[in-house]
Amino acid sequence: MENLLLEVNGIDVFYGDVQALANVSIQVEQGAIVALVGANGAGKSTLLKTIAGVKQPSRGDILFQNQPLCGRRAEQVANMGIVLVPEGRGLFANLTVLENLKLGAYPVKARAHLQESLNRAFELFPVLKERVSQKAGALSGGQQQMLAIARALMAMPDLLMLDEPSLGLSPLISKEIFELIHTLNERGTTILLVEQNVNQALKIAQNAYVMKTGSIEMQGSGLELLANPEVQEAYIGKRWSKT
Ligand SMILES: Nc1ncnc2c1ncn2[C@@H]1O[C@H](COP(=O)(O)OP(=O)(O)OP(=O)(O)O)[C@@H](O)[C@H]1O
Ligand SMILES: [Mg+2]
Repeated sequence: MENLLLEVNGIDVFYGDVQALANVSIQVEQGAIVALVGANGAGKSTLLKTIAGVKQPSRGDILFQNQPLCGRRAEQVANMGIVLVPEGRGLFANLTVLENLKLGAYPVKARAHLQESLNRAFELFPVLKERVSQKAGALSGGQQQMLAIARALMAMPDLLMLDEPSLGLSPLISKEIFELIHTLNERGTTILLVEQNVNQALKIAQNAYVMKTGSIEMQGSGLELLANPEVQEAYIGKRWSKT
């Protein structure tokens, strides 16, 4: 494919003796939103962590802009342009909004653009501008998620990976987060999105993968999978009754 940004080819990943991913392959095109959905424990977070260089695969390879990632550590991967907003957000609760944002600009190429990135963050997230001197821990859940995304953007990523950004948020705030993801994508950021809100995720994704017990079970366009009765049955109807 011409505009491939990220290519994961047949990776296996283990935690000790426990295999978390088996022969997983995905592709992310430049400029796309790609969704990754599936039941608890399917391996979604492990896949994002492996792309980010936090875990290493024991088999297979990962190419980003045609360069191999395997063997590189998280900091090197971030310098290459991949940033992960982890499950649970990973903010420094005792630091202020501004301090958290500044810490996001750690990759080499991002440091020189700190002020312009801050201006952009405050334009995208006016609520963070209002609370710039507050401790991150004092923000609401939705504001913390916005700060986590804003901090990731400070790194000027080519690929932004979001792990369950709407988890624990009210339907109204979740909607804001999904709109934001859409806006970021329209402004040119490629996004790999893990979501328990399968319905919303498939609606905004060009392409999507369904994972089951460490493997890719299905793939297709977001709308194809949304219309798929198996996906509806397994991941959408039940989810709605739960949340
Ligand atoms: N640190 C760890 N040590 C050992 N096993 C782990 C660890 N993290 C995850 N696993 C196991 O790896 C498998 C995949 O977990 P992972 O967190 O990637 O799934 P997930 O799809 O993100 O699930 P969830 O929807 O609950 O976030 C699971 O069987 C899990 O128990
Ligand atoms: Mg997870």
